[in-house]
Amino acid sequence: MLPELLPRPAAIEPAEYLKRREALIAQLPQNAAMVVPGASLVTRSHDSEYAFRQQSDFYYLTGIQEPDGLLVLLPGREEGQSVVFCQDRDPTLEAWTGRRLGALGVERLHGIDQAYENAQRDELLPSLLEGRELLYVPLDNPEALSIAENALAHAQAGLRRGKPALKGWLDSRPLTHQMRLIKSPAEIALLRHAAAISAQAHVRAMRVCQPGLSEYQLQAELEHEFKWQGASGPAYSTIVGGGANACVLHYIENSDVLDADTLVLIDAGAEFDLYAGDITRTFPVSGRFSEAQRALYQVVLEAQERAIQAVAPGASLVDIHQRVVRDLTAGLISLGLLEGDVEARIDDESYRRFYLHSTSHWLGLDVHDVGTYRLDEQTPRPLVEGMVLTVEPGLYIPEDDELPAVYRGIGIRIEDNVVVTSAGHEVLTSGVPKQVAEIEQLMATK
Ligand code: GLY
Ligand code: MN
Ligand code: MN
Repeated sequence: MLPELLPRPAAIEPAEYLKRREALIAQLPQNAAMVVPGASLVTRSHDSEYAFRQQSDFYYLTGIQEPDGLLVLLPGREEGQSVVFCQDRDPTLEAWTGRRLGALGVERLHGIDQAYENAQRDELLPSLLEGRELLYVPLDNPEALSIAENALAHAQAGLRRGKPALKGWLDSRPLTHQMRLIKSPAEIALLRHAAAISAQAHVRAMRVCQPGLSEYQLQAELEHEFKWQGASGPAYSTIVGGGANACVLHYIENSDVLDADTLVLIDAGAEFDLYAGDITRTFPVSGRFSEAQRALYQVVLEAQERAIQAVAPGASLVDIHQRVVRDLTAGLISLGLLEGDVEARIDDESYRRFYLHSTSHWLGLDVHDVGTYRLDEQTPRPLVEGMVLTVEPGLYIPEDDELPAVYRGIGIRIEDNVVVTSAGHEVLTSGVPKQVAEIEQLMATK
């Protein structure tokens, strides 16, 4: 029997992309323009390329999946405030690499006011930007900076004719990233689906796991499930770390054989319609936790559950992290792995020997999604409805630590994806178990 297919959510409508562009334009001064380049293909070797991944801000504002696009936003322009330059139609090339939207397709299918093919860009872009005194560009994008520099050179001619001309540029990212921080219902539906696919893939890996398999074989199970469910693939490099490999936070070699006496940590998530899932589970290769493994696991699990309970409007990621640090430190002391008083061990940061990373990050089109974590240096950003974050505490006991041998080389992280709702929160990733008894039961029913 073929595996069950999860029901797919609807794609985001052109009308929603239009609303986003309008909301962004409404924040720009009338004498400004914004330029947002899409991604281009990148050579992998000789004449083959890496799989195309659209630039997230460009995608957020257009929904267009083709390479070499450029969005130009022009507040108050009568012929239309949104212009897109796109790949040239080219029947010969399209026979090799597939159909292109062309200007007509961009206007009709994506609701863009005016579109032109890139062959016309050098001629048309300077006149579109003429008379604009301020340009918003993503400052990390060399193509956008070169457009800004050209526009400035062009402005000299305008100035000589006594016309308003470009005075300088500002970073567009604070504006777009602030918008992306709050997800719409349609975005949350896509994130829920990416999370459900990711959860199903983790269940599959738990079911298949047994001593003697290699880490990459569990990776293959996960990534098979991603593709089978219609995801584009992993949202980031899949991590499968058996034993002490779990203590290497970004271990992606996935090349070792899984040993019966160890835990395996899997951090893997699917990308669906460019939205990321990001789940971590840690479980015993044999299907049964040892006493020491279970004791440490319970400390991480209880800290993670309490952190999720704290997710609600008005809380902050700083509060949630501090709560996790307190719970992990108290747990380490109760197991005798740290000594003394909880406050003292938090103050002298001795917990950092076992817990180095932060508890949460934003999740969306990018796995470490955009948006600032603080309003200013003193003020953590309060959570509001529609934000999506991960909750991912962990404990990592280095192999060469002086703790009792039963604890050495154990790495544990438990990571879920959580939406902030008006009432508190919704966990998107509950489709994969994390309680000890549930994991052991699942692994016993192969
Ligand atoms: N998978 C990357 C992270 O958990 O942040
Ligand atoms: Mn992760
Ligand atoms: Mn994460």
